[in-house]
Amino acid sequence: MAHLWSGRFDSAPDEEVFQFQSSFAFDRRLFEDDVVGSLAWAEGLASAGVLSADDAAAIRAALGEIRERGLTDPDFVDGDDEDVHAFVERQLIERVGDAGKRLHTGRSRNEQVSLDLRLYLRRRIGAIQRELVALVDSLAGQATSAGSALMPSYTHLRRAQPILVSHFLLAHAAAVRRDHGRFVSAYVEADVLPLGSGAIAGASYPIDTAALARRLGFSRVVSNSLDATADRDFVSTFLHACSLTMVHLSRMAEDFIIFSTEEFGFFGLSDAVTTGSSLMPQKKNPDPLELVRGKTGRVIGHLSGWLATMKGLPSGYNKDLQEDKQAVFDTDETVQRSVRAVTVVVRSLTLHDTRTEAAASGLALATDVADLLVARGVPFREAHEVVGRMVRDLLAVGRDFAAMTTDEWQGYHPALDADAASRITARGSVEARHTPQSTAPTAVAAALADVQRWVEESTPGSD
Ligand code: ARG
Repeated sequence: MAHLWSGRFDSAPDEEVFQFQSSFAFDRRLFEDDVVGSLAWAEGLASAGVLSADDAAAIRAALGEIRERGLTDPDFVDGDDEDVHAFVERQLIERVGDAGKRLHTGRSRNEQVSLDLRLYLRRRIGAIQRELVALVDSLAGQATSAGSALMPSYTHLRRAQPILVSHFLLAHAAAVRRDHGRFVSAYVEADVLPLGSGAIAGASYPIDTAALARRLGFSRVVSNSLDATADRDFVSTFLHACSLTMVHLSRMAEDFIIFSTEEFGFFGLSDAVTTGSSLMPQKKNPDPLELVRGKTGRVIGHLSGWLATMKGLPSGYNKDLQEDKQAVFDTDETVQRSVRAVTVVVRSLTLHDTRTEAAASGLALATDVADLLVARGVPFREAHEVVGRMVRDLLAVGRDFAAMTTDEWQGYHPALDADAASRITARGSVEARHTPQSTAPTAVAAALADVQRWVEESTPGSD
């Protein structure tokens, strides 16, 4: 077949090399965006007086038909074309002949591919954001059902201080909300019209780029054609937003994997989200969570791979840039599917609050004993020493604060009177917190209400 650029060549391309550099197998995903961009370009040319009204109308009708066909017939977007841009143009020329051959006037695939990918990302970012909102909603739902249940928090994966289970769940929600915000930035970065840049130096027709931007819903137009045709910062930003989202999903997955082990038994994973073992009948494995953790490496790989691809490129378009698409497509699908999987897991979690509450007490209250001493005038360093000694003694005999007699309290420090034992509980510990970001029940209730409000207000970009 003839290629978009056959005229300059004496011989046909080597078949294997042509296949090697062809992107149609994967950039067909940009089909709809390419048609939308082409429709806009036809209008731009017509308004600039470059295309006759008749040609523009013929192109518009044919592109509409091509779009319709592509959306209804899954086998249509196919062929030996080099890429999706060549495919759409061939289809157009087959339908309207010379008018179709005029569409590429003043336009380059270099700006066209940037436009298509920007349109694609704008759609996909909206879809990912909707999944993130659903995930936050599922965490808020669990936080609501957890009520006033207590659990230990961990630093260095060693018991630290008692917290509300809802505080733990809302911690993950906080990270996911940041991810959502990062996609807002990724959207803003993609939201720029590159058309009018030509291959590199700009178009030599009086195209009203501001009108084109308005038509395609872009908030602004690129500022430099040389930069624009080779700029993929919006791809890097998107991959970064996805990578960090995966890092958060992976950490959440890790928490639920650990906390649902026989050893912890804090949460139960539903049968619907676990897998059995072909050999060991007792097993219920958290495969989806492990896969999310595993796929995080793959998404981070796309980000670092992409940055490595970009780093040595000279100014202007280079074919290396074609590598952006597989990185983006695989990443965006992986992230969306991972968020959904985690959402299903979270929605179906069961909390074993007798286990979490039992684990929240004991020596995890050591800081509270020290705080009590401080409240009674003892300098914190001295209090830390005293309580450290108590912990050492208690550990040696396998007891905890709750088992100590009044005399024993007094023996460690005269400020620890009869009242002390009754005050040192996990519940008392969380209730003693003061700051808005703390695990104090009133603070957590306010945080939960804020998250619920956010979920309601979040109506992300449309797909
Ligand atoms: N398939 C190409 C890509 O993805 C489209 C742009 C081609 N431009 C070119 N000068 N060969 O980047």
